[in-house]
Amino acid sequence: MIYFVALVAGLAGILFGFDEGVIAGALSSLRAEFQITSLEEGMMTAAVPFGALFGALLAGSLAERFGRRQTLLFASVLFVIGALCAGLAPGVWVLTGCRLVLGLAVGVAAMVAPLYISESAPSKQRGMLVSVYQLAITIGILSAYLVNFAFDDKWRTMFMLGALPGIALFLGMAVLKDTPRWYILKGRTEDARRALQRVRGTSVSQHEIESELGHIKAAMDTGGSGRWADLLAPVVRPAFIVGIGLFFLQQLSGINAVIYYAPTVFQEAGFDSGSTQLMATIGVGVVNVLMTLVGMYLIDRIGRRRLLFLGFVGTALGLGMIAVGAATGIQSLDILAVIGMALYIAAFAASIGPLPWVMMAEIFPSHVRGMAMGVTSLTNWGFNFLVVFSFPVLVSALGLGGVFGIYALVCVAGVIFTYLRIPETSGVSLEDIEKHLLSGRPFHMLGQFAPPPMYTDAPDITQDQAHEMLTQLVELSPYRAYLRPLINRISEVGYDNHQVRTALRIVHARVSRQSRQTLTQHDMGSERETFVAFFEHIRFASPSFLEWVGEPQVDNKGDSRGA
Ligand code: BGC
Repeated sequence: MIYFVALVAGLAGILFGFDEGVIAGALSSLRAEFQITSLEEGMMTAAVPFGALFGALLAGSLAERFGRRQTLLFASVLFVIGALCAGLAPGVWVLTGCRLVLGLAVGVAAMVAPLYISESAPSKQRGMLVSVYQLAITIGILSAYLVNFAFDDKWRTMFMLGALPGIALFLGMAVLKDTPRWYILKGRTEDARRALQRVRGTSVSQHEIESELGHIKAAMDTGGSGRWADLLAPVVRPAFIVGIGLFFLQQLSGINAVIYYAPTVFQEAGFDSGSTQLMATIGVGVVNVLMTLVGMYLIDRIGRRRLLFLGFVGTALGLGMIAVGAATGIQSLDILAVIGMALYIAAFAASIGPLPWVMMAEIFPSHVRGMAMGVTSLTNWGFNFLVVFSFPVLVSALGLGGVFGIYALVCVAGVIFTYLRIPETSGVSLEDIEKHLLSGRPFHMLGQFAPPPMYTDAPDITQDQAHEMLTQLVELSPYRAYLRPLINRISEVGYDNHQVRTALRIVHARVSRQSRQTLTQHDMGSERETFVAFFEHIRFASPSFLEWVGEPQVDNKGDSRGA
């Protein structure tokens, strides 16, 4: 059942992508039919993100008041009306109005569909299911490009086809129930129980259902009291800087200049025939989908920071190549622009595409999560609008090379921003992320005393083995005199801490293969970083770090919420 839920809500992602992408192939026939200026072109194209801005503003209160299900039903009706009207539009202004309606639907759905998925999903599948949503967006974009290709200059048919996934969303939502969490919010416990039973299926016992219901209720009692003013609290600020910063960089990297205007970009870059432009555009869509899958595979394995570094370096290089290819106008450099485009899309899709969405859902303290996510996704649409609206105007003023040069510089800034501000949240529980924020420590230090936990096949170790190893490792540290008296606590905390324990398991497996007992500097290999940073934190941060970092929950700075 949960996969059906994800599938239905994923339709909202497909609609999001479709309505973003469909304009790309429609523009050339629209230009031919209506003689539009670059300002009108910018308005018509940017109407979707502009409408979405309002959709995102409305979504939170609609979903609270009428429920997630009714809100998505409402959005699906807008999708169908918007698509049909756009297909029948007599002129540019009506078309712009219809795209505004579509944008409203996109904005509502883009916020409520992931909420619907995450409130219905069991927690261990939540991250994966939220990424499925980004995948759905890229599939929607690709379908729009395929429709563009199949219907060549029939822009009316292209827009109308958007009604189909809208109808599917309506039918799907009509048979689903609302989320257990929303029913509880409205005091409808019996409905909540039935909804939960339905999404968890028959394999789950009555006892488990009751206990999950209890958890949802308890979380609402302690966490549901967020007020708008709480968003300004100093502890929430670093999370906002990360969330808003990532969306700023994601959008100002120019992705939607490519997604919305791909054939135009290829034309400017020297592709003369319309069908070659569309083929190249489909190439963009395919790379976007495939590399999103790669990103989903990597995200928990190499960690958020590394993936972002790779993403920003890759996009900066790709955009730089497009800029040089386009600015020189030399025919032989066109190929440079094409390779640059492939590199740019690949690096974006694997990293800068999914990461802001994934991190947005994990960095905010629970009592303000919903509101903070609303504000953050609002900034996504604001910057999206800015880029899409300004693109035609900027290209006429600066040329394609100049505009892509600016986007490349933004990606360079992204490398620096990642280095200075991004915490490593992979493998860290939501509660630990929250605890770190509340401790007042610099947010970007979270998770950095160890490299992101790689999946390891190394067998687990016992507490005694961990104690023995850490005792030896402490002796290899320059701070041994300070650390030695704390060894019991260090080994307790090191054993409980996921990242230190993973490093210990890897080293233990390595050393046992050589059947030796005494550890040397050399044995630590690439896990050395983890131990060095772990010990440094204990030495310099404060002894209370020991209490803070371990799983055993201890009050910190008067925070009485404990576990
Ligand atoms: C962005 C969209 C973009 C899409 C491209 C998403 O993460 O938020 O604006 O069009 O990726 O795949």
